[in-house]
Amino acid sequence: MRMDSSAARYFLIGFMGVGKTTIGRDLANHLGMPFYDLDDEIEKATGRRIAEIFDEGGEAKFRELETRVLRQIVGKNSAVIATGGGTFIKPENREIIRSAGVSIWLDGATDQIIDRGADDDRPLWHDANQARALLTERLVHYRQADLRFDLKRSSPQEAAKQIAKLLASCNVT
Ligand code: S3P
Repeated sequence: MRMDSSAARYFLIGFMGVGKTTIGRDLANHLGMPFYDLDDEIEKATGRRIAEIFDEGGEAKFRELETRVLRQIVGKNSAVIATGGGTFIKPENREIIRSAGVSIWLDGATDQIIDRGADDDRPLWHDANQARALLTERLVHYRQADLRFDLKRSSPQEAAKQIAKLLASCNVT
């Protein structure tokens, strides 16, 4: 993990539906920092919903836009950034994140998430078996995050508070 003295950037990573956006917004409040949700920023930049981007240009187009918008966000100052579930899977994105700040993997709560079922706004989520297989495939990448936070016992509010503490104890705030 590399940090320059002028900016602190915390990237929440992890599977679809774990609560990256909700926890990220709360964490940003605790730390007094701006918050960005990468998917929202992609939608703002393109004027398209994520599902429309997938429909029109497929996953390849989405991944290209995702990296472009990620680069724009890290060009800003200190921030908490909720990434998409696939962002940390692409080596180029991992490198951008590694150079810009600290990655925090929101792990756990998997059974509740998978059982929740498919979601029209998530083009890469088809059904429980497929989602479980995709998660399994991605774990090797998520494990490369700087920090891991186990969500199992926490509400999103509690998780945000605990992560703020964790960052303070790691001396990265
Ligand atoms: C994706 C996750 C989504 C969104 C896109 C692709 C993925 O974000 O970026 O649908 O590959 O896991 P969330 O993790 O916020 O659902």
